[in-house]
Amino acid sequence: MKYYYLAICVCILGFIYPDKGMTAPPVNQCLNCHLENGFKEAVLFKKDIHYQVGLTCAGCHGGNPNTDDMDKAMSKSAGFIGKPKGDVITKICSSCHSSPEFMKKYDSKLPTNQASLLKTSVHGRLSISGKEKLVQCSTCHNAHGIVPPSDLNSPVNPRNVINTCGSCHSNANFMKVYKPSIPIDQVEKYRTSIHGILHAKGDLKVAVCFSCHGSHGILSPSDVRSMVYKTNLPSTCAHCHSNSSYMKNYKIPTDQFKNYSMSVHGNALLVKHDLSAPACNDCHGNHGATPPGVESISQVCGTCHALNAELFSTSPHKKAFDSLNYPECETCHSNHLIITATDKLIGVDNKAVCSRCHSQTNNPKGYIAAKTMKMLIDSLENYEKNDNKLINEAEQKGMEVGDAKYKLRDVQQSRLEARTAVHAFNLKKFEVVVNKGLAVASDIHSEAMNAINDYFFRRYGLGIATLIITILAISLYRFIRRIERKNKNNV
Ligand code: HEC
Ligand code: HEC
Ligand code: HEC
Ligand code: HEC
Ligand code: HEC
Ligand code: HEC
Ligand code: HEC
Ligand code: HEC
Ligand code: HEC
Ligand code: HEC
Ligand code: HEC
Repeated sequence: MKYYYLAICVCILGFIYPDKGMTAPPVNQCLNCHLENGFKEAVLFKKDIHYQVGLTCAGCHGGNPNTDDMDKAMSKSAGFIGKPKGDVITKICSSCHSSPEFMKKYDSKLPTNQASLLKTSVHGRLSISGKEKLVQCSTCHNAHGIVPPSDLNSPVNPRNVINTCGSCHSNANFMKVYKPSIPIDQVEKYRTSIHGILHAKGDLKVAVCFSCHGSHGILSPSDVRSMVYKTNLPSTCAHCHSNSSYMKNYKIPTDQFKNYSMSVHGNALLVKHDLSAPACNDCHGNHGATPPGVESISQVCGTCHALNAELFSTSPHKKAFDSLNYPECETCHSNHLIITATDKLIGVDNKAVCSRCHSQTNNPKGYIAAKTMKMLIDSLENYEKNDNKLINEAEQKGMEVGDAKYKLRDVQQSRLEARTAVHAFNLKKFEVVVNKGLAVASDIHSEAMNAINDYFFRRYGLGIATLIITILAISLYRFIRRIERKNKNNV
């Protein structure tokens, strides 16, 4: 009968403290006495996740939490370590958090890699004193009153993490001791971005420091494993921007990454690993992530396509597009799905971009320009093709056309220049470039034709000479035979 009651007791205890199995509720004399003595750590601990899961002060400080005798509770023999300092702090946190066996006892589904990630991160380096690591677990999570990151009071909750990271990264005196080359304007710029502006209004779904950099394993942007390394960055942004359910309350599309991946830029960066092609941040900024405003797009593209942007800025389109709110380069090339530009873009048929705005009745000057430009480009191309054919023909006939072949490069060059010169949207300027090419093309044409004519001249010349020589040879032969016969007859 006695055992029966005991079993019920154990069951009830097990119900109240399922994690602890059969142990009694945790006694925490440390907490009691420290509360009585007005310690702020004790007050904070009442809200601490560790308190909530049944851990005591001794979990981190050691000592005996079961006695209200101060000396016994905080005696070295009971393992009391006092106030932990330096690397000891991270060691204490990891004694549980890096131990899957321990965490399993608490039914925890948390990862157990924080310490190992931190060790290999940029923050895992030594502090200036050289005696301890630059950053400990408590630097970002505090030591008392620790709550899960999802709790609004956590220093790493999206609401607060900007300031937590910024406490060092915006501090010029602190940062210059470590690495003077690192800018200290991340928070300042972040506040100007759409992410930062919405964040200030309480939107916690926008990107914060750890969405782009990670939390424990933060690496330098130049490290190929970093989330912001050029080739990894588009997926980092896509994590949210391609997630239609995450973005469903926002009125923006979720196709940027998909389109970007199919673009010349995405293909160059992600497939060919060409680091000169732009990733999302080259157009949107690192921390000031804003869409470039309509009037600044050409500057953004111009960081790489300098000539196109320069010509565009002096073109009649610059003023007209800006005042009509047409997004500059994007109007003709799009923003994310930028594909290889071809001659098809220009002209007045329905595939050409020009015909979207120019027709015989609407902006007719542009219509005429587009039509003429297309005609000029086409004739340059035809000339080039024709010249190529003639040069090949002459070469096959064994004629020397090295010079003409060399000049063909100038034609190709002027065709390339013409593709860029389009952006002046000025027929006169365009004609200068194309005419240069047309003049060379016409020279090549005559040189190649001359070579071919020479060939025929020589060939026919040779033929006639051979004929004459043959006739002469035959007559000579006959003449000799006749003389021989005459001589025979005379003998
Ligand atoms: C009966 C009261 C009492 C109990 C029980 C008690 N403490 Fe204290 N504790 C104090 C007082 C008072 C101080 C400040 C005086 C001092 O530094 O000795 C203190 C100081 C500390 C300090 C700061 C030491 C330092 O080096 O700055 C820590 C940490 C601490 N206690 C943790 C604990 C832990 C953990 C337990 C339980 C295992 C515990 N205390 C139990 C009263 C108590
Ligand atoms: C999760 C680990 C952890 C737990 C649990 C914990 N502490 Fe601490 N405590 C620390 C760390 C780390 C420090 C030293 C670093 C700091 O204060 O930033 C510290 C420092 C202290 C100090 C010294 C403060 C000072 O500035 O001198 C006292 C006192 C203290 N703790 C009391 C307590 C008491 C009382 C409890 C339980 C109510 C408790 N701690 C629970 C980690 C912990
Ligand atoms: C005695 C073991 C132990 C120590 C020491 C310890 N923790 Fe914990 N910690 C836990 C357990 C157990 C949980 C609850 C796990 C759960 O609910 O999944 C927890 C939860 C947390 C959480 C909340 C995580 C979440 O998302 O729910 C954070 C943050 C945390 N600890 C940080 C720290 C830091 C920082 C230190 C050192 C200053 C530390 N812990 C020391 C055992 C420990
Ligand atoms: C540089 C700041 C920083 C340091 C240092 C740091 N953390 Fe964190 N920690 C974070 C951030 C930010 C998050 C939230 C990440 C998220 O929500 O994705 C986090 C989340 C956590 C969580 C919740 C589960 C998880 O892994 O996301 C635990 C547990 C935790 N940290 C423990 C630790 C421990 C233990 C240490 C020391 C070994 C530590 N942290 C050091 C910033 C830090
Ligand atoms: C205790 C101060 C401190 C805190 C808090 C801190 N950092 Fe740092 N961080 C540094 C220092 C110092 C360096 C330079 C380390 C080095 O490379 O020598 C650094 C380096 C970095 C770098 C690499 C910079 C580069 O160009 O190499 C990134 C990225 C970074 N931190 C992001 C963060 C984020 C995100 C947070 C918040 C989750 C954060 N930091 C919190 C001090 C801090
Ligand atoms: C939207 C993504 C994003 C957010 C949010 C973000 N960063 Fe960055 N961060 C980047 C990118 C991209 C780079 C630069 C990569 C490169 O140089 O190629 C960078 C670079 C850095 C660097 C290296 C120095 C520099 O400025 O180039 C530090 C330090 C840094 N970030 C800290 C932070 C801190 C602190 C926060 C929060 C206030 C933060 N970042 C928020 C994307 C982000
Ligand atoms: C944590 C999720 C998250 C990550 C990661 C993220 N963003 Fe955002 N971003 C958002 C949310 C949410 C908005 C708000 C949508 C809106 O503007 O209505 C936003 C807005 C923007 C906007 C403004 C859109 C507009 O016109 O209103 C741009 C541009 C942007 N993000 C670019 C980026 C870039 C580039 C990256 C990567 C370097 C990135 N974002 C990473 C969540 C994220
Ligand atoms: C070549 C430059 C460029 C690249 C690369 C780029 N963007 Fe954009 N992005 C733009 C321009 C231009 C706009 C439109 C601005 C406008 O019309 O005001 C834009 C608009 C946006 C917007 C606002 C909503 C929309 O779709 O119009 C978001 C969000 C965005 N980009 C995210 C991204 C992300 C994520 C990446 C990387 C996968 C990326 N962008 C790559 C130039 C670029
Ligand atoms: C960081 C530099 C960079 C930025 C910024 C950039 N581009 Fe590019 N762009 C490139 C590179 C590199 C290529 C060549 C890719 C390839 O073909 O391998 C390219 C290719 C192109 C092409 C195809 C060229 C062709 O020969 O057909 C067009 C069109 C183009 N970009 C337009 C734009 C526009 C419009 C913007 C602004 C919205 C922009 N680019 C921003 C670097 C950049
Ligand atoms: C999105 C509409 C749009 C597109 C597309 C467009 N244009 Fe225009 N274009 C304009 C506007 C608006 C003007 C200014 C008309 C004015 O000032 O009266 C203009 C002016 C011009 C002018 C100057 C005409 C003059 O008045 O001297 C030329 C040349 C021109 N465009 C050529 C082109 C060519 C070539 C293309 C195709 C590659 C093209 N445009 C595509 C809207 C467009
Ligand atoms: C009104 C339409 C229009 C606008 C606006 C426009 N482009 Fe173009 N772009 C074209 C056309 C048409 C071609 C193709 C010419 C060809 O191949 O014959 C082209 C070709 C290109 C090329 C490939 C040829 C080269 O120069 O290497 C690049 C790169 C380019 N554009 C970038 C830009 C940039 C950057 C801007 C903004 C400063 C811009 N474009 C604005 C119509 C436009």
